[in-house]
Amino acid sequence: MVGPIAFVETPEPIVSLMVGLISEDKKSDAKTAVLDSGTGKGVFLEVLQKAGYKDIVGVELDTELYEYTSSKFPDLIIQHLDYLDWITNSQYDVIIGNPPYCHFNSLPRQMKIKVADIVGNKESDIYYAFIMKSIELLKDGGELIYIVPYGFFFNTYAKVVREIIKREGYLEIVIDLDETRIFDGENPETVIFKFVKTQQETKPQLKVLRTKNRNLSPRKINSETFDVLNTHASSSTFDYHEREMFSDKNVIWTTYPEKKINDFYLLKDVAWIGVGLVSGFEKAYTITKEEKTSLNENENKLLLKCIKAKHCKGFWTEGFTEYVLIDKRISTEEELKENYPFFYKKIVDYKESMSVRYLPENKKWFHWQALRNFEKLKVFKNQAKIYVPNLDRSTTNRFSMSLEPIYPSGDVLTIVPKDKDPYFLLGYLNSHFFRDYYLSAGARRGQRISFTQRIMANIKIPNFSETIEEKIAKITKEIFDGKKISLRTKINDLVLENIN
Ligand SMILES: C[S@@+](CC[C@H](N)C(=O)[O-])C[C@H]1O[C@@H](n2cnc3c(N)ncnc32)[C@H](O)[C@@H]1O
Repeated sequence: MVGPIAFVETPEPIVSLMVGLISEDKKSDAKTAVLDSGTGKGVFLEVLQKAGYKDIVGVELDTELYEYTSSKFPDLIIQHLDYLDWITNSQYDVIIGNPPYCHFNSLPRQMKIKVADIVGNKESDIYYAFIMKSIELLKDGGELIYIVPYGFFFNTYAKVVREIIKREGYLEIVIDLDETRIFDGENPETVIFKFVKTQQETKPQLKVLRTKNRNLSPRKINSETFDVLNTHASSSTFDYHEREMFSDKNVIWTTYPEKKINDFYLLKDVAWIGVGLVSGFEKAYTITKEEKTSLNENENKLLLKCIKAKHCKGFWTEGFTEYVLIDKRISTEEELKENYPFFYKKIVDYKESMSVRYLPENKKWFHWQALRNFEKLKVFKNQAKIYVPNLDRSTTNRFSMSLEPIYPSGDVLTIVPKDKDPYFLLGYLNSHFFRDYYLSAGARRGQRISFTQRIMANIKIPNFSETIEEKIAKITKEIFDGKKISLRTKINDLVLENIN
């Protein structure tokens, strides 16, 4: 018997919403062939039947669920098979459902082979394969309506899914439900999307809804969605906009409206952007104030002050973490033991766990894991540096500057301004406009924003006049020097008034 893979039931109002997204011409045509690609207990089948569809087929791999559904719907064709290697001559007008979500690593062996075969890599989620298989089984003009995690919008390994969607047709509707609690127990960030398969060149505008409120009930989501789709306007619960279908220009997809900057330069043209130093074993290398009093002269020389995400307060930094930097200058355990006795005593307790860390071949168990950009950072030591957490949950940007000779730890990204006033850059990066612009560049990961070297390097900075840059720099300096966060709105206004 085959066990269920990722069975989670979809609430009826969400299913009704999805069935309601089927185009009018298909609704009114008695011959419309509809497929549910993983029936579970048949909630989609039930709603489809009630809506008047006659030609409905279901597929279910799990034996118990198959038996349950086929006895509940004796007049429908339910196939007991694996959707991913199902060979059929049939093609469908509509494929609808809630496919299984399960990362490659957690799949049964046989299923791994099938997913890798379809998607072409071993880092995918099974739902990527479901999307690709479904697109293949659609007729020309056919519609795929799925509820799936948001990850395929940005994951590197889902690029092939995004390519196929673009190549085989277009997205007509995307409803971004974020982390709204829809399913029992599970709480992924989900989107409902409607894809239309066609080779026609002109693609209609994509309608995008994004929830403003994570506490919506499925019933409310249902009624609000149709209101928004009918009025083409945002509501109290959904932001709405229309945009061109994603194209090759959009490496990552996003549900935030595009923010256009006409006259600009790139951040990488005026600043150095890089990732921080990774110890790979925080406990062993962190030195407290008390411990510092026990260090000898050699040991003192290895101390390194670092900014971590928790020290980024927005505009300014507060505090630092002090580490002992054990790198290749110390090549043997004996040397460590003899010349750095306090450190040795501290880290030897962790020897076993530290030895199983991932380390490049030429490193010993007591070495730091990755001293990324260390040489560069030494050069920048006495320059103003702006830090930002790699992943940030706060609702306003936390770009934080320090003028101290201090280093970035692995959980922050560092920006070293070169040809621009650091205060101007700091102010602009903390502005409202920049946050919206950055979100429109596809940087959301659930409730967090991801600040990556790649996206940050290529962000556009508007070409403000010198006077405006100076004004922004002046206010930012006031905020920075006096911790006057209330002045932030002045920067927001200045940026907005002077963009484009
Ligand atoms: C997330 S559940 C959704 C069930 C149902 N459609 C609903 O919305 O309530 C996914 C379903 O797909 C089935 N499934 C998983 N892998 C499958 C496969 N390779 N072929 C067919 N069905 C599969 C699971 O057993 C499960 O019933």
